Amino acid sequence: MSFDAPARDLLSRMTLAEKVGQMTQADHEFIKDPSDVERFMLGSVLNGGDSDPSSGNSMQSWRAMAEMYQGHAARTRLRIPLIYGIDAVHGNNNVIGAVVFPHNVGLGATRDVELVRRAAEVTAEETRAIGVNWAFAPCVCVPQDIRWGRTYEGFSEDPAVVSELGAAAVRGLQGSNLRDPLRVAASAKHFVGDGGTAVGSGIDKQLDQGDTRADSATLRRLFLFPYRAAVDAGVATIMPSYSSWNGVKVSGDRHLLTEVLKGELGFQGFLISDYRAVDQVHPDYKSAIAISINAGMDMVMVPDRYAEFITKLTELVNEGRVPMSRIDDAVARILRVKLAMGLLDPNYDFHADRALEARFGSREHRAVARQAVRESMVLLKNERGTLPLSKSSRRIHVAGRAANDIGMQAGGWTIFWQGKAGDITTGGTTILSAIKQAVGQGTQVSYSVDGSGAAGADAVVVVVGEAPYAEMRGDKLDLSLDAADRAAVSNARAAGVPVTVVVISGRPLLLGPVLDEASAIVAAWLPGTEGTGVADVLFGDYKPSGKLSYTWPRSMGQLPLRDGASEPLFPFGFGLTY
Ligand code: BGC
Ligand code: BGC
Repeated sequence: MSFDAPARDLLSRMTLAEKVGQMTQADHEFIKDPSDVERFMLGSVLNGGDSDPSSGNSMQSWRAMAEMYQGHAARTRLRIPLIYGIDAVHGNNNVIGAVVFPHNVGLGATRDVELVRRAAEVTAEETRAIGVNWAFAPCVCVPQDIRWGRTYEGFSEDPAVVSELGAAAVRGLQGSNLRDPLRVAASAKHFVGDGGTAVGSGIDKQLDQGDTRADSATLRRLFLFPYRAAVDAGVATIMPSYSSWNGVKVSGDRHLLTEVLKGELGFQGFLISDYRAVDQVHPDYKSAIAISINAGMDMVMVPDRYAEFITKLTELVNEGRVPMSRIDDAVARILRVKLAMGLLDPNYDFHADRALEARFGSREHRAVARQAVRESMVLLKNERGTLPLSKSSRRIHVAGRAANDIGMQAGGWTIFWQGKAGDITTGGTTILSAIKQAVGQGTQVSYSVDGSGAAGADAVVVVVGEAPYAEMRGDKLDLSLDAADRAAVSNARAAGVPVTVVVISGRPLLLGPVLDEASAIVAAWLPGTEGTGVADVLFGDYKPSGKLSYTWPRSMGQLPLRDGASEPLFPFGFGLTY
Protein backbone atom coordinates (compact mmCIF):
# COMPACT_ATOMS: atom_id res chain seq x y z
CA MET A 1 0.00 0.00 0.00
CA SER A 2 1.69 3.19 -1.10
CA PHE A 3 2.06 5.85 1.57
CA ASP A 4 0.82 3.50 4.24
CA ALA A 5 3.85 3.94 6.50
CA PRO A 6 3.88 7.77 6.52
CA ALA A 7 0.09 7.81 6.91
CA ARG A 8 0.29 5.51 9.93
CA ASP A 9 3.09 7.59 11.37
CA LEU A 10 1.11 10.82 11.10
CA LEU A 11 -2.00 9.08 12.41
CA SER A 12 -0.13 7.94 15.52
CA ARG A 13 0.52 11.57 16.39
CA MET A 14 -3.10 12.72 15.99
CA THR A 15 -5.70 13.41 18.64
CA LEU A 16 -9.26 12.16 18.21
CA ALA A 17 -10.36 15.74 17.43
CA GLU A 18 -7.78 15.97 14.66
CA LYS A 19 -8.90 12.65 13.24
CA VAL A 20 -12.59 13.53 13.27
CA GLY A 21 -11.73 16.88 11.71
CA GLN A 22 -10.02 15.13 8.79
CA MET A 23 -13.20 13.15 8.23
CA THR A 24 -15.32 16.30 7.97
CA GLN A 25 -16.11 18.30 4.83
CA ALA A 26 -17.95 21.64 5.13
CA ASP A 27 -19.43 23.73 2.35
CA HIS A 28 -18.15 27.30 1.99
CA GLU A 29 -21.77 28.40 1.78
CA PHE A 30 -22.30 27.47 5.44
CA ILE A 31 -18.93 28.40 6.92
CA LYS A 32 -19.78 31.58 8.80
CA ASP A 33 -16.27 32.10 10.08
CA PRO A 34 -13.39 30.77 7.93
CA SER A 35 -11.28 30.21 11.04
CA ASP A 36 -13.66 27.27 11.69
CA VAL A 37 -11.24 25.41 9.43
CA GLU A 38 -8.63 25.86 12.16
CA ARG A 39 -10.99 25.49 15.10
CA PHE A 40 -12.40 22.17 13.89
CA MET A 41 -9.23 21.11 12.05
CA LEU A 42 -11.34 20.29 9.00
CA GLY A 43 -9.97 17.90 6.41
CA SER A 44 -11.88 19.34 3.51
CA VAL A 45 -14.00 22.18 2.14
CA LEU A 46 -16.29 22.08 -0.87
CA ASN A 47 -18.32 24.44 -2.95
CA GLY A 48 -21.71 22.92 -3.76
CA GLY A 49 -23.58 23.70 -6.94
CA ASP A 50 -24.78 27.14 -5.81
CA SER A 51 -21.94 27.95 -3.45
CA ASP A 52 -19.92 30.84 -4.88
CA PRO A 53 -17.20 33.04 -3.43
CA SER A 54 -18.62 35.85 -1.33
CA SER A 55 -16.75 38.40 -3.44
CA GLY A 56 -18.41 37.39 -6.71
CA ASN A 57 -17.97 34.81 -9.43
CA SER A 58 -14.65 35.43 -11.11
CA MET A 59 -11.67 33.17 -11.57
CA GLN A 60 -9.64 35.42 -9.24
CA SER A 61 -12.20 35.46 -6.43
CA TRP A 62 -12.51 31.67 -6.55
CA ARG A 63 -8.76 31.37 -6.30
CA ALA A 64 -8.57 33.84 -3.42
CA MET A 65 -11.25 31.91 -1.56
CA ALA A 66 -9.55 28.52 -1.92
CA GLU A 67 -6.21 29.98 -0.87
CA MET A 68 -7.80 31.72 2.09
CA TYR A 69 -9.17 28.39 3.38
CA GLN A 70 -5.82 26.66 2.80
CA GLY A 71 -4.18 29.45 4.78
CA HIS A 72 -6.36 28.53 7.75
CA ALA A 73 -5.49 24.84 7.42
CA ALA A 74 -1.81 25.80 7.39
CA ARG A 75 -2.24 27.33 10.84
CA THR A 76 -3.45 24.11 12.50
CA ARG A 77 -1.08 22.14 14.73
CA LEU A 78 -0.29 19.48 12.15
CA ARG A 79 -0.64 21.83 9.15
CA ILE A 80 -2.42 19.21 7.06
CA PRO A 81 -3.67 20.95 3.89
CA LEU A 82 -7.26 20.65 2.73
CA ILE A 83 -8.37 18.45 -0.07
CA TYR A 84 -10.72 20.99 -1.66
CA GLY A 85 -13.63 19.71 -3.75
CA ILE A 86 -15.85 21.07 -6.50
CA ASP A 87 -18.25 19.68 -9.09
CA ALA A 88 -15.99 20.14 -12.10
CA VAL A 89 -18.15 17.73 -14.08
CA HIS A 90 -17.96 19.19 -17.59
CA GLY A 91 -15.12 21.63 -17.32
CA ASN A 92 -14.69 23.71 -14.17
CA ASN A 93 -18.33 24.61 -14.76
CA ASN A 94 -19.08 26.73 -11.67
CA VAL A 95 -16.67 29.46 -12.64
CA ILE A 96 -17.63 32.21 -15.08
CA GLY A 97 -15.33 32.14 -18.09
CA ALA A 98 -14.31 28.49 -17.81
CA VAL A 99 -14.56 26.36 -20.92
CA VAL A 100 -17.65 24.16 -20.62
CA PHE A 101 -17.48 20.74 -22.26
CA PRO A 102 -20.40 18.63 -23.44
CA HIS A 103 -22.04 16.72 -20.61
CA ASN A 104 -21.15 13.03 -20.47
CA VAL A 105 -24.21 12.06 -22.54
CA GLY A 106 -22.50 13.83 -25.48
CA LEU A 107 -19.04 12.50 -24.72
CA GLY A 108 -20.51 9.00 -24.70
CA ALA A 109 -21.63 9.47 -28.29
CA THR A 110 -18.02 10.19 -29.33
CA ARG A 111 -16.78 6.80 -28.05
CA ASP A 112 -13.40 8.58 -28.16
CA VAL A 113 -11.27 7.50 -25.21
CA GLU A 114 -8.38 9.86 -25.95
CA LEU A 115 -10.70 12.84 -26.39
CA VAL A 116 -12.42 12.15 -23.06
CA ARG A 117 -9.03 11.87 -21.37
CA ARG A 118 -7.89 15.15 -22.91
CA ALA A 119 -11.13 16.95 -21.96
CA ALA A 120 -10.67 15.81 -18.35
CA GLU A 121 -7.07 17.02 -18.45
CA VAL A 122 -8.22 20.50 -19.47
CA THR A 123 -10.87 20.41 -16.75
CA ALA A 124 -8.19 19.54 -14.20
CA GLU A 125 -6.04 22.45 -15.32
CA GLU A 126 -8.91 24.95 -15.10
CA THR A 127 -9.76 23.57 -11.66
CA ARG A 128 -6.16 23.91 -10.46
CA ALA A 129 -6.19 27.46 -11.78
CA ILE A 130 -8.55 28.41 -8.94
CA GLY A 131 -6.52 26.55 -6.33
CA VAL A 132 -8.90 23.60 -6.10
CA ASN A 133 -7.39 20.11 -6.10
CA TRP A 134 -10.34 17.70 -6.25
CA ALA A 135 -13.19 17.17 -8.73
CA PHE A 136 -16.39 15.30 -7.91
CA ALA A 137 -16.15 13.55 -11.26
CA PRO A 138 -16.51 11.43 -13.27
CA CYS A 139 -20.06 10.27 -12.85
CA VAL A 140 -19.90 6.62 -13.90
CA CYS A 141 -23.59 5.96 -13.51
CA VAL A 142 -25.17 3.66 -16.07
CA PRO A 143 -28.65 5.16 -16.57
CA GLN A 144 -31.18 2.47 -17.44
CA ASP A 145 -34.17 4.79 -17.67
CA ILE A 146 -33.91 8.13 -19.46
CA ARG A 147 -36.76 9.54 -17.39
CA TRP A 148 -34.09 9.97 -14.71
CA GLY A 149 -32.95 13.62 -14.58
CA ARG A 150 -29.29 12.69 -14.21
CA THR A 151 -29.17 10.69 -17.43
CA TYR A 152 -26.95 13.34 -19.03
CA GLU A 153 -24.31 12.85 -16.35
CA GLY A 154 -23.83 9.30 -17.59
CA PHE A 155 -21.80 8.41 -20.68
CA SER A 156 -24.12 5.60 -21.71
CA GLU A 157 -26.75 3.03 -20.85
CA ASP A 158 -24.06 0.46 -21.64
CA PRO A 159 -21.69 -0.47 -18.78
CA ALA A 160 -18.82 -1.23 -21.17
CA VAL A 161 -18.93 2.28 -22.70
CA VAL A 162 -19.17 3.85 -19.23
CA SER A 163 -16.24 1.79 -17.96
CA GLU A 164 -13.98 2.72 -20.82
CA LEU A 165 -14.79 6.43 -20.85
CA GLY A 166 -15.03 6.70 -17.06
CA ALA A 167 -11.52 5.27 -16.70
CA ALA A 168 -10.30 7.70 -19.38
CA ALA A 169 -11.80 10.61 -17.44
CA VAL A 170 -10.06 9.42 -14.26
CA ARG A 171 -6.74 9.27 -16.10
CA GLY A 172 -7.29 12.74 -17.55
CA LEU A 173 -8.25 14.35 -14.26
CA GLN A 174 -5.53 12.69 -12.20
CA GLY A 175 -2.73 12.32 -14.72
CA SER A 176 -0.28 9.50 -14.21
CA ASN A 177 0.69 10.73 -10.77
CA LEU A 178 -1.56 12.39 -8.18
CA ARG A 179 1.36 14.65 -7.32
CA ASP A 180 1.09 16.37 -10.72
CA PRO A 181 0.37 20.06 -9.92
CA LEU A 182 -1.74 20.39 -13.09
CA ARG A 183 -4.06 17.52 -12.17
CA VAL A 184 -6.68 16.94 -9.49
CA ALA A 185 -7.94 14.01 -7.46
CA ALA A 186 -11.03 12.45 -9.07
CA SER A 187 -14.15 10.97 -7.52
CA ALA A 188 -16.07 8.24 -9.30
CA LYS A 189 -19.76 8.61 -8.43
CA HIS A 190 -22.36 7.62 -7.32
CA PHE A 191 -21.55 4.16 -6.01
CA VAL A 192 -23.54 2.06 -6.90
CA GLY A 193 -26.71 1.58 -8.92
CA ASP A 194 -27.74 5.26 -9.02
CA GLY A 195 -28.87 4.80 -12.63
CA GLY A 196 -31.11 1.86 -11.88
CA THR A 197 -33.72 3.34 -9.57
CA ALA A 198 -37.36 2.41 -10.11
CA VAL A 199 -39.98 4.96 -11.13
CA GLY A 200 -41.95 5.89 -8.02
CA SER A 201 -39.17 5.03 -5.56
CA GLY A 202 -37.37 8.39 -5.54
CA ILE A 203 -37.91 12.05 -4.66
CA ASP A 204 -41.52 13.15 -5.36
CA LYS A 205 -42.34 9.58 -6.33
CA GLN A 206 -40.02 9.80 -9.30
CA LEU A 207 -36.58 8.21 -9.81
CA ASP A 208 -33.81 10.37 -8.37
CA GLN A 209 -32.32 9.03 -5.12
CA GLY A 210 -34.70 6.07 -5.32
CA ASP A 211 -34.34 2.33 -4.98
CA THR A 212 -32.52 0.02 -7.37
CA ARG A 213 -34.26 -3.31 -7.29
CA ALA A 214 -31.98 -5.93 -8.68
CA ASP A 215 -30.28 -9.12 -7.65
CA SER A 216 -26.60 -9.11 -6.92
CA ALA A 217 -25.62 -10.47 -10.34
CA THR A 218 -27.56 -7.72 -12.14
CA LEU A 219 -26.16 -5.00 -9.88
CA ARG A 220 -22.68 -6.21 -10.64
CA ARG A 221 -23.18 -6.64 -14.38
CA LEU A 222 -24.80 -3.26 -14.95
CA PHE A 223 -23.43 -0.93 -12.33
CA LEU A 224 -20.33 -2.29 -10.59
CA PHE A 225 -18.29 -2.83 -13.70
CA PRO A 226 -17.29 0.87 -14.18
CA TYR A 227 -15.99 1.05 -10.60
CA ARG A 228 -13.63 -1.80 -11.25
CA ALA A 229 -12.28 0.19 -14.21
CA ALA A 230 -12.06 3.39 -12.13
CA VAL A 231 -10.25 1.60 -9.31
CA ASP A 232 -7.86 0.03 -11.80
CA ALA A 233 -7.24 3.51 -13.22
CA GLY A 234 -6.22 4.58 -9.69
CA VAL A 235 -9.19 6.75 -8.75
CA ALA A 236 -8.39 8.50 -5.45
CA THR A 237 -11.93 8.82 -4.10
CA ILE A 238 -15.39 7.36 -4.64
CA MET A 239 -18.73 8.95 -3.72
CA PRO A 240 -21.42 6.58 -2.45
CA SER A 241 -24.90 7.19 -3.79
CA TYR A 242 -27.99 8.72 -2.25
CA SER A 243 -29.94 5.82 -3.74
CA SER A 244 -30.79 2.48 -2.16
CA TRP A 245 -30.21 -1.09 -3.21
CA ASN A 246 -33.22 -3.28 -2.49
CA GLY A 247 -34.45 -0.84 0.13
CA VAL A 248 -31.14 -0.20 1.92
CA LYS A 249 -29.41 3.17 1.53
CA VAL A 250 -26.06 2.55 -0.15
CA SER A 251 -24.49 5.20 2.09
CA GLY A 252 -25.13 2.90 5.04
CA ASP A 253 -24.51 -0.47 3.37
CA ARG A 254 -21.48 -2.18 4.86
CA HIS A 255 -21.58 -5.04 2.39
CA LEU A 256 -21.30 -2.73 -0.61
CA LEU A 257 -18.92 -0.12 0.80
CA THR A 258 -16.56 -2.30 2.78
CA GLU A 259 -16.84 -5.85 1.54
CA VAL A 260 -17.35 -5.19 -2.15
CA LEU A 261 -15.63 -1.89 -2.85
CA LYS A 262 -12.76 -1.91 -0.40
CA GLY A 263 -12.44 -5.67 -0.10
CA GLU A 264 -13.24 -7.31 -3.38
CA LEU A 265 -12.31 -4.40 -5.67
CA GLY A 266 -9.33 -3.48 -3.51
CA PHE A 267 -10.11 0.25 -3.42
CA GLN A 268 -7.32 1.98 -1.48
CA GLY A 269 -8.56 5.58 -1.59
CA PHE A 270 -11.33 7.10 0.53
CA LEU A 271 -15.11 7.36 0.35
CA ILE A 272 -16.67 10.82 0.40
CA SER A 273 -20.37 10.82 1.21
CA ASP A 274 -22.78 12.72 -1.00
CA TYR A 275 -24.22 16.05 0.13
CA ARG A 276 -26.26 15.40 3.31
CA ALA A 277 -26.57 11.78 2.20
CA VAL A 278 -25.60 10.44 5.62
CA ASP A 279 -28.64 12.23 7.09
CA GLN A 280 -30.87 9.95 5.03
CA VAL A 281 -29.48 6.71 6.42
CA HIS A 282 -31.51 6.84 9.66
CA PRO A 283 -34.09 9.29 11.07
CA ASP A 284 -31.87 9.91 14.09
CA TYR A 285 -28.82 11.84 12.94
CA LYS A 286 -26.41 10.33 15.44
CA SER A 287 -27.49 6.80 14.53
CA ALA A 288 -27.21 7.73 10.87
CA ILE A 289 -23.60 8.78 11.40
CA ALA A 290 -22.83 5.56 13.31
CA ILE A 291 -24.34 3.37 10.61
CA SER A 292 -22.62 5.16 7.75
CA ILE A 293 -19.16 5.38 9.29
CA ASN A 294 -19.34 1.76 10.43
CA ALA A 295 -20.41 0.80 6.93
CA GLY A 296 -17.17 2.28 5.63
CA MET A 297 -17.78 5.98 4.89
CA ASP A 298 -14.48 7.80 5.37
CA MET A 299 -15.26 11.48 4.89
CA VAL A 300 -18.65 13.11 5.26
CA MET A 301 -19.92 15.95 3.04
CA VAL A 302 -21.86 17.40 5.93
CA PRO A 303 -22.12 20.25 4.51
CA ASP A 304 -23.71 22.69 6.98
CA ARG A 305 -23.92 21.36 10.54
CA TYR A 306 -20.27 20.38 10.82
CA ALA A 307 -19.94 21.37 14.48
CA GLU A 308 -22.83 19.06 15.34
CA PHE A 309 -21.43 16.27 13.17
CA ILE A 310 -18.07 16.49 14.89
CA THR A 311 -19.64 16.43 18.35
CA LYS A 312 -21.78 13.43 17.50
CA LEU A 313 -19.03 11.40 15.86
CA THR A 314 -16.73 12.12 18.80
CA GLU A 315 -19.43 10.94 21.23
CA LEU A 316 -19.97 7.81 19.17
CA VAL A 317 -16.29 6.94 19.47
CA ASN A 318 -16.23 7.66 23.19
CA GLU A 319 -19.34 5.54 23.67
CA GLY A 320 -17.78 2.68 21.74
CA ARG A 321 -20.47 2.76 19.03
CA VAL A 322 -17.86 3.55 16.37
CA PRO A 323 -14.61 1.66 16.96
CA MET A 324 -11.34 3.58 16.95
CA SER A 325 -10.05 1.10 14.39
CA ARG A 326 -12.70 2.34 11.94
CA ILE A 327 -11.71 5.98 12.56
CA ASP A 328 -8.05 5.09 12.07
CA ASP A 329 -8.82 3.28 8.83
CA ALA A 330 -10.82 6.26 7.52
CA VAL A 331 -8.15 8.80 8.43
CA ALA A 332 -5.33 6.62 7.12
CA ARG A 333 -7.14 6.46 3.79
CA ILE A 334 -7.61 10.24 3.68
CA LEU A 335 -3.98 10.82 4.61
CA ARG A 336 -2.76 8.33 2.02
CA VAL A 337 -4.53 10.33 -0.68
CA LYS A 338 -3.18 13.61 0.67
CA LEU A 339 0.33 12.15 0.81
CA ALA A 340 0.02 10.82 -2.72
CA MET A 341 -1.08 14.29 -3.87
CA GLY A 342 2.09 15.73 -2.35
CA LEU A 343 0.12 17.89 0.09
CA LEU A 344 2.40 16.84 2.93
CA ASP A 345 5.67 17.39 1.07
CA PRO A 346 8.01 19.76 2.92
CA ASN A 347 8.04 22.21 0.02
CA TYR A 348 4.27 22.04 -0.66
CA ASP A 349 2.73 25.40 -1.62
CA PHE A 350 -1.05 25.70 -1.64
CA HIS A 351 -1.09 28.75 -3.90
CA ALA A 352 -2.42 28.17 -7.39
CA ASP A 353 0.13 28.45 -10.18
CA ARG A 354 -0.41 31.98 -11.54
CA ALA A 355 0.61 30.83 -15.03
CA LEU A 356 -2.67 28.89 -15.20
CA GLU A 357 -4.66 32.11 -15.27
CA ALA A 358 -3.73 32.77 -18.90
CA ARG A 359 -4.80 29.27 -19.87
CA PHE A 360 -8.13 29.46 -18.07
CA GLY A 361 -10.90 29.51 -20.69
CA SER A 362 -8.22 29.92 -23.36
CA ARG A 363 -8.57 29.36 -27.09
CA GLU A 364 -6.45 26.26 -26.80
CA HIS A 365 -8.81 24.79 -24.19
CA ARG A 366 -11.86 25.83 -26.20
CA ALA A 367 -10.43 24.02 -29.22
CA VAL A 368 -10.50 20.76 -27.26
CA ALA A 369 -14.12 21.36 -26.30
CA ARG A 370 -15.03 22.26 -29.89
CA GLN A 371 -13.61 18.95 -31.05
CA ALA A 372 -15.61 17.17 -28.36
CA VAL A 373 -18.77 18.90 -29.58
CA ARG A 374 -18.12 17.92 -33.19
CA GLU A 375 -17.59 14.29 -32.31
CA SER A 376 -20.63 14.16 -30.06
CA MET A 377 -23.18 15.17 -32.73
CA VAL A 378 -25.37 12.25 -33.80
CA LEU A 379 -27.06 12.58 -37.17
CA LEU A 380 -30.45 10.86 -36.87
CA LYS A 381 -32.05 11.76 -40.18
CA ASN A 382 -30.90 13.38 -43.42
CA GLU A 383 -33.36 13.38 -46.30
CA ARG A 384 -32.24 14.27 -49.78
CA GLY A 385 -28.91 15.62 -48.63
CA THR A 386 -30.40 18.43 -46.53
CA LEU A 387 -27.12 18.47 -44.64
CA PRO A 388 -24.48 19.68 -44.94
CA LEU A 389 -25.73 23.23 -45.37
CA SER A 390 -24.06 25.42 -47.94
CA LYS A 391 -21.93 28.31 -46.71
CA SER A 392 -22.82 30.26 -49.82
CA SER A 393 -26.60 30.18 -49.46
CA ARG A 394 -28.30 33.52 -49.88
CA ARG A 395 -30.08 33.27 -46.58
CA ILE A 396 -30.20 30.78 -43.72
CA HIS A 397 -33.01 31.17 -41.24
CA VAL A 398 -32.35 30.08 -37.67
CA ALA A 399 -35.15 29.54 -35.15
CA GLY A 400 -35.95 28.07 -31.76
CA ARG A 401 -35.43 29.19 -28.18
CA ALA A 402 -32.28 27.11 -27.80
CA ALA A 403 -30.54 28.64 -30.83
CA ASN A 404 -29.08 31.66 -29.13
CA ASP A 405 -28.73 30.55 -25.54
CA ILE A 406 -25.47 29.53 -23.87
CA GLY A 407 -27.27 28.49 -20.70
CA MET A 408 -29.54 26.07 -22.55
CA GLN A 409 -26.75 24.52 -24.53
CA ALA A 410 -24.69 24.05 -21.35
CA GLY A 411 -27.49 22.50 -19.24
CA GLY A 412 -27.45 21.84 -15.50
CA TRP A 413 -24.33 22.08 -13.34
CA THR A 414 -23.24 25.22 -15.18
CA ILE A 415 -22.62 28.37 -13.12
CA PHE A 416 -25.75 27.41 -11.18
CA TRP A 417 -26.57 24.06 -9.59
CA GLN A 418 -29.62 23.63 -11.82
CA GLY A 419 -28.12 25.61 -14.71
CA LYS A 420 -30.08 28.53 -16.14
CA ALA A 421 -31.19 29.72 -19.56
CA GLY A 422 -29.55 32.90 -20.86
CA ASP A 423 -26.21 34.57 -20.97
CA ILE A 424 -24.77 32.91 -17.88
CA THR A 425 -21.06 32.84 -18.71
CA THR A 426 -18.46 34.53 -20.88
CA GLY A 427 -16.24 33.40 -23.70
CA GLY A 428 -18.60 30.88 -25.30
CA THR A 429 -20.40 30.88 -28.65
CA THR A 430 -24.09 30.17 -29.15
CA ILE A 431 -25.19 28.04 -32.08
CA LEU A 432 -26.66 31.10 -33.80
CA SER A 433 -23.40 33.06 -33.44
CA ALA A 434 -21.44 30.04 -34.64
CA ILE A 435 -23.61 29.79 -37.77
CA LYS A 436 -23.10 33.51 -38.44
CA GLN A 437 -19.35 33.09 -38.05
CA ALA A 438 -19.26 30.07 -40.34
CA VAL A 439 -21.01 31.48 -43.40
CA GLY A 440 -19.49 33.61 -46.13
CA GLN A 441 -19.91 37.37 -46.51
CA GLY A 442 -22.75 36.96 -48.98
CA THR A 443 -24.95 34.87 -46.70
CA GLN A 444 -27.58 36.49 -44.56
CA VAL A 445 -28.51 34.75 -41.31
CA SER A 446 -31.96 35.70 -39.98
CA TYR A 447 -33.42 34.60 -36.66
CA SER A 448 -36.78 34.24 -34.96
CA VAL A 449 -37.64 32.29 -31.84
CA ASP A 450 -40.95 30.94 -33.17
CA GLY A 451 -39.89 29.88 -36.65
CA SER A 452 -41.62 32.73 -38.43
CA GLY A 453 -39.75 34.50 -41.24
CA ALA A 454 -38.45 31.32 -42.83
CA ALA A 455 -40.18 31.90 -46.16
CA GLY A 456 -37.71 32.61 -48.90
CA ALA A 457 -34.69 31.29 -47.05
CA ASP A 458 -32.55 28.55 -48.63
CA ALA A 459 -32.43 26.54 -45.41
CA VAL A 460 -33.88 26.63 -41.93
CA VAL A 461 -32.24 25.41 -38.74
CA VAL A 462 -34.55 25.06 -35.73
CA VAL A 463 -32.82 24.47 -32.40
CA VAL A 464 -35.17 22.86 -29.89
CA GLY A 465 -34.74 21.11 -26.59
CA GLU A 466 -34.86 20.97 -22.85
CA ALA A 467 -34.48 23.91 -20.47
CA PRO A 468 -31.66 23.31 -17.94
CA TYR A 469 -32.21 21.05 -14.94
CA ALA A 470 -30.15 18.92 -12.60
CA GLU A 471 -30.59 16.27 -9.92
CA MET A 472 -33.79 16.28 -7.88
CA ARG A 473 -35.65 18.37 -10.46
CA GLY A 474 -34.90 16.74 -13.77
CA ASP A 475 -36.98 13.57 -13.64
CA LYS A 476 -39.69 13.62 -16.30
CA LEU A 477 -42.36 11.05 -16.92
CA ASP A 478 -43.18 12.63 -20.28
CA LEU A 479 -40.27 13.31 -22.59
CA SER A 480 -42.27 14.93 -25.39
CA LEU A 481 -40.79 17.94 -27.11
CA ASP A 482 -42.03 21.21 -25.71
CA ALA A 483 -45.12 22.66 -27.44
CA ALA A 484 -43.36 25.91 -28.38
CA ASP A 485 -40.55 23.91 -29.95
CA ARG A 486 -42.98 21.81 -31.95
CA ALA A 487 -44.74 24.96 -33.12
CA ALA A 488 -41.43 26.54 -34.21
CA VAL A 489 -40.69 23.49 -36.36
CA SER A 490 -44.21 23.52 -37.88
CA ASN A 491 -44.00 27.23 -38.62
CA ALA A 492 -40.66 26.80 -40.33
CA ARG A 493 -41.96 23.79 -42.23
CA ALA A 494 -44.97 25.75 -43.46
CA ALA A 495 -42.59 28.05 -45.30
CA GLY A 496 -41.73 25.13 -47.59
CA VAL A 497 -38.01 25.28 -46.92
CA PRO A 498 -36.08 22.14 -45.84
CA VAL A 499 -35.90 22.15 -42.05
CA THR A 500 -32.94 20.91 -40.03
CA VAL A 501 -33.79 20.30 -36.39
CA VAL A 502 -31.00 20.39 -33.81
CA VAL A 503 -32.05 18.84 -30.49
CA ILE A 504 -30.38 20.21 -27.35
CA SER A 505 -31.17 17.76 -24.57
CA GLY A 506 -29.86 15.69 -21.73
CA ARG A 507 -31.41 12.51 -23.15
CA PRO A 508 -33.39 11.27 -26.12
CA LEU A 509 -36.75 13.08 -26.41
CA LEU A 510 -39.95 11.98 -28.12
CA LEU A 511 -39.83 13.64 -31.50
CA GLY A 512 -43.55 13.23 -32.31
CA PRO A 513 -44.57 14.96 -35.57
CA VAL A 514 -41.15 16.62 -35.80
CA LEU A 515 -39.75 13.30 -36.98
CA ASP A 516 -41.64 13.69 -40.27
CA GLU A 517 -41.65 17.49 -40.51
CA ALA A 518 -37.89 17.77 -40.29
CA SER A 519 -35.76 16.92 -43.30
CA ALA A 520 -32.70 16.48 -41.12
CA ILE A 521 -32.31 15.87 -37.38
CA VAL A 522 -29.16 16.18 -35.30
CA ALA A 523 -28.91 15.21 -31.62
CA ALA A 524 -26.52 17.74 -30.10
CA TRP A 525 -27.00 16.77 -26.42
CA LEU A 526 -25.75 19.47 -24.05
CA PRO A 527 -22.72 20.72 -25.97
CA GLY A 528 -21.51 23.39 -23.53
CA THR A 529 -19.96 26.69 -24.48
CA GLU A 530 -18.55 25.79 -27.89
CA GLY A 531 -21.48 26.12 -30.31
CA THR A 532 -18.87 26.33 -33.07
CA GLY A 533 -18.62 22.54 -32.92
CA VAL A 534 -22.32 22.28 -33.84
CA ALA A 535 -21.86 24.61 -36.82
CA ASP A 536 -18.81 22.63 -37.97
CA VAL A 537 -21.05 19.60 -38.40
CA LEU A 538 -24.00 21.48 -39.93
CA PHE A 539 -21.77 22.88 -42.68
CA GLY A 540 -19.83 19.68 -43.23
CA ASP A 541 -16.47 20.98 -42.01
CA TYR A 542 -16.58 17.96 -39.77
CA LYS A 543 -18.45 14.87 -40.92
CA PRO A 544 -20.83 13.47 -38.32
CA SER A 545 -19.32 10.53 -36.47
CA GLY A 546 -21.30 10.31 -33.22
CA LYS A 547 -23.15 7.11 -32.33
CA LEU A 548 -26.05 6.89 -29.88
CA SER A 549 -24.92 5.78 -26.45
CA TYR A 550 -28.57 5.58 -25.35
CA THR A 551 -31.42 3.86 -27.18
CA TRP A 552 -33.87 6.43 -28.61
CA PRO A 553 -37.49 5.52 -27.86
CA ARG A 554 -40.52 5.91 -30.09
CA SER A 555 -42.98 6.32 -27.21
CA MET A 556 -43.04 6.63 -23.44
CA GLY A 557 -44.65 3.20 -23.22
CA GLN A 558 -41.35 1.64 -24.30
CA LEU A 559 -39.48 2.87 -21.24
CA PRO A 560 -37.35 1.69 -19.61
CA LEU A 561 -35.56 0.50 -22.70
CA ARG A 562 -33.41 -2.18 -21.17
CA ASP A 563 -31.30 -4.58 -23.15
CA GLY A 564 -32.25 -3.51 -26.63
CA ALA A 565 -36.04 -3.48 -26.24
CA SER A 566 -37.83 -4.11 -29.48
CA GLU A 567 -38.25 -1.46 -32.15
CA PRO A 568 -36.95 1.71 -30.62
CA LEU A 569 -37.00 4.72 -32.94
CA PHE A 570 -33.20 4.62 -33.21
CA PRO A 571 -31.18 1.77 -31.71
CA PHE A 572 -28.11 2.03 -29.49
CA GLY A 573 -25.11 2.74 -31.73
CA PHE A 574 -27.15 4.47 -34.43
CA GLY A 575 -25.68 7.48 -36.24
CA LEU A 576 -25.63 8.55 -39.88
CA THR A 577 -22.97 10.51 -41.68
CA TYR A 578 -22.44 12.36 -44.97
C1 BGC B 1 -24.74 15.43 -5.93
C2 BGC B 1 -23.29 15.11 -6.24
C3 BGC B 1 -22.44 16.33 -6.02
C4 BGC B 1 -22.67 16.90 -4.65
C5 BGC B 1 -21.88 18.15 -4.37
C6 BGC B 1 -24.91 16.13 -4.62
O1 BGC B 1 -26.22 16.55 -4.41
O2 BGC B 1 -25.48 14.22 -5.95
O3 BGC B 1 -23.17 14.62 -7.55
O4 BGC B 1 -21.10 16.00 -6.24
O5 BGC B 1 -24.03 17.20 -4.49
O6 BGC B 1 -22.39 19.24 -5.04
C1 BGC C 1 -26.05 22.49 -3.58
C2 BGC C 1 -25.68 21.29 -4.40
C3 BGC C 1 -26.22 20.11 -3.76
C4 BGC C 1 -27.72 20.26 -3.53
C5 BGC C 1 -28.24 19.08 -2.82
C6 BGC C 1 -27.53 22.57 -3.46
O1 BGC C 1 -27.90 23.70 -2.72
O2 BGC C 1 -25.54 23.65 -4.14
O3 BGC C 1 -24.30 21.16 -4.50
O4 BGC C 1 -25.97 18.99 -4.53
O5 BGC C 1 -28.02 21.44 -2.84
O6 BGC C 1 -29.16 19.37 -1.80
